[in-house]
Amino acid sequence: MAKVEMNVNGKAVAATVDDRTLLVEFLREERNLTGTHIGCDTSQCGACVVHVDGKAVKSCTMLAAQASGSDVTTIEGLAGGGELHPMQEAFRQHHGLQCGFCTPGMIMAAIDIVNRHGPDVDEKTIRHDLEGNICRCTGYHNIVKSIAAGAKEMGGSMKQAAE
Ligand code: FES
Ligand code: FES
Repeated sequence: MAKVEMNVNGKAVAATVDDRTLLVEFLREERNLTGTHIGCDTSQCGACVVHVDGKAVKSCTMLAAQASGSDVTTIEGLAGGGELHPMQEAFRQHHGLQCGFCTPGMIMAAIDIVNRHGPDVDEKTIRHDLEGNICRCTGYHNIVKSIAAGAKEMGGSMKQAAE
């Protein structure tokens, strides 16, 4: 058994889990954060992407014990004060989803893309960096459009926060 302690969406949590417990299992089963999805057993789909210490990670590829001591953010931790995160809002406005299964992972990956490439990230870079996220419905066009729009909005909020 392993003792894990981490911040999940800003809240300190501690638990004793089986050594083999994956981070995605810990989030879904121990914390009831079921917005993080499991879409494959081959680490290919990206439905399970969360942020660990600010970086996108496929939570099916990491043990809960490996995340101990980290700050973990899931899709449930993005909205604040009754407002969607700008990237969530962009997916809503630009129809970046159909069934929604891949969407939490897409949005968490998208925010990481913007954090790495900035608010003017181009379409080619977005498509390249989304290679680890599979959508079975949309054909990606509106997802890419949503991310480009969300990136601009995130740039605006970052600027406002700095002013
Ligand atoms: S469930 Fe993690 S990559 Fe598919
Ligand atoms: S919206 Fe259905 S899998 Fe992407």
